[in-house]
Amino acid sequence: MPLTAYNHVPIPSFMYGTAWKKEATSQLVQLAVASGFTAIDTANQLIHYQEALVGEALQALAKKGITRDTLFLQTKFTPVGGQDHRTPYDASADLATQVRQSFDSSLTHLCTEYVDSYLLHGPYSRRGLGEADWEVWAAMEGLYQSGKTKMIGISNVTAGQLTQLCAQANLKPMVVQNRCYAALGWDKEVRKICQVHGIIYQGFSLLTANGEVLADPEIRTIAKRLGTGSAQIIFRFAMQIGMLPLTGTTNQQHMKEDLQAEQFALSTEEIQRIETIAL
Ligand SMILES: NC(=O)c1ccc[n+]([C@@H]2O[C@H](COP(=O)([O-])OP(=O)(O)OC[C@H]3O[C@@H](n4cnc5c(N)ncnc54)[C@H](OP(=O)(O)O)[C@@H]3O)[C@@H](O)[C@H]2O)c1
Repeated sequence: MPLTAYNHVPIPSFMYGTAWKKEATSQLVQLAVASGFTAIDTANQLIHYQEALVGEALQALAKKGITRDTLFLQTKFTPVGGQDHRTPYDASADLATQVRQSFDSSLTHLCTEYVDSYLLHGPYSRRGLGEADWEVWAAMEGLYQSGKTKMIGISNVTAGQLTQLCAQANLKPMVVQNRCYAALGWDKEVRKICQVHGIIYQGFSLLTANGEVLADPEIRTIAKRLGTGSAQIIFRFAMQIGMLPLTGTTNQQHMKEDLQAEQFALSTEEIQRIETIAL
C-alpha cells in the first residue's frame, strides 16, 4: 500500500537505500528492483553515495522494460559541510545556485527529467533554522513549483527545526527522513509532527541503530510466532505505526525477507510493546 503525503503524491511503502555501496551500487539497485523494490533513495554526495551508478542501474533496467515512471526516485541536496572536495556544485556560488546546480547534476546522473522526491540532507546547524536553511528551502520550493520534483523534504531534522519549518515555510515538507532510535521512542516527537502535518516519515538505521532491540527476547518470541526474523518484525512495526522504512541490504535473501514485512501483521499489543521496548 503506498503512503500519501498532504500533497497527495503516492510513495511506495518501502525504500531501498544506496549509501555505502560504492562500485556495487548499480548491480545492487538492479537486484533490489528485481526483488520487488520500486523506490530508491540516493544523494548527490560522493562521500557516501554513487548517484551516477544509480543512474547506470536505471538505464540497464529500462533496457529490460522497467520504465522510469514505474520507479520512485529520491535524492538529496547536501550542503558543503557534508561534502568533500568533490562538491557537485560551485561551492563559492550563492546557495540558490548551489541547489540548482546540484539538482541539475542529479538529473544528469539519474538520466531523468524529474525526481519524485528531493531532500535537504540536513539543516546547516544542529539547532534551529538559519538564513542558509531558508535560502536553500526557498530554492527547493522553486524546484517543486517548476514540477521538477514531486515532493520536497528534509533529513536529519530535530522536532524543533521541523516545527519551525512547518510554521514558517511557504511549503511544508512532504517528507522527513531521520535516523530512528528505539531509545527515543522511535523518533516519537518528530513522527508526531509529521502525523499532524501529513508529512511522510522515513526511518533509516532501523536495524543498525537498534541492535539491542533486534536481540531482545520479546522480539524473538514475536518473530517465532510469525515465522520471521527479527529484522522483519522491526520493519513491520515501522510500517504499522505509519513509518516508511529504508533498508540498504546488500543481500538478495534479505531484500526478499525485508519486503515480506508487507505480508503479515503485528497485534495491537505487540505494537504497543515494541513502541516502548527501549524506553
Ligand atoms: N539521510 C541520511 O543522512 C541517511 C543516513 C544513513 C542512511 N540513509 C539512507 O538509508 C539507507 C539505509 O541505511 P540504514 O542505515 O538503514 O541501513 P544499512 O546501512 O543499509 O544497513 C542495514 C543493515 O541491516 C542488515 N540487514 C538488512 N536486512 C536484514 C535482514 N533481513 N536480516 C538481517 N540483516 C539485515 C544489512 O546487512 P546485509 O547487507 O548483510 O543484508 C545491513 O548490515 C541508506 O542506504 C541511505 O539511503 C540516509
